[in-house]
Amino acid sequence: MAFGPREFYETLPSTQDRAVKLAREGAREGTRVVARRQTHGRGRLDRSWSSPVGGLYCSTVLRRPREHLGLLPLAVGAYLGAALHEAYSVPIALKWPNDLVVAQADRLPRKLSGILTDEVSSPTLGRAVVVGVGVNVRLPVDSLPASLAERTAALEEFVRTPPNLEDVEGIVATASLGAVERLEVPEGVREARALCRRLLFGVGRRVTVDGQPAGTLAALGDEGELWVGTDTNRVAIWAGDVAVEDSP
Ligand code: BTN
Repeated sequence: MAFGPREFYETLPSTQDRAVKLAREGAREGTRVVARRQTHGRGRLDRSWSSPVGGLYCSTVLRRPREHLGLLPLAVGAYLGAALHEAYSVPIALKWPNDLVVAQADRLPRKLSGILTDEVSSPTLGRAVVVGVGVNVRLPVDSLPASLAERTAALEEFVRTPPNLEDVEGIVATASLGAVERLEVPEGVREARALCRRLLFGVGRRVTVDGQPAGTLAALGDEGELWVGTDTNRVAIWAGDVAVEDSP
């Protein structure tokens, strides 16, 4: 596993934008950009990603896997989730396609981490993928508006001493690089799929896609697509905003 050079900033508009620029300029695999806060953090679907001090914001340049690109964000999430569970005993689940949520009985699922991928041309890697990960490490969840607070979790809730941001960064970088390595060998692909399926959130629950009722979440497909059962058949969802309804 090739950890590359690291750029560190106290404040940056977006680690993702910086890492995309570096990738386009030929940054080597494993290069990562880290910031303590972001002023224009980017999320999926053109959303913003609130990035106050206390979170981990890290973007890593990876070579594009030759196959199974659709599995990459899920595999990063699954390996990251498994490692966070092991290190901090967080009850974690993978919410398609790119969220890690804390799933506890009798509580709403709460977002702990989000993952964003951008594919770019690189003069050294050919095609590169920049994987950006935000993790709520130390976040005063109670200071958020109530509607957001009940949907947000932070790692510090699960440990006695506040988690160290460098430790979490190491876990994120290892999960990102490790996911690409696994997707390049058949045994690794099988392992990644199995882990994603084990952690998948919401199986058997009703889902909406882009705000429209779509059916019941049935399974994760081999390439990372989501299979949803309707009254009459099963359909594959490849992109979009999937929400799992709260009541079973
Ligand atoms: C999402 O849940 O929509 C994805 C959020 C991804 C946020 C991370 S934080 C580090 C990197 N820099 C960004 O601007 N975005 C990603």
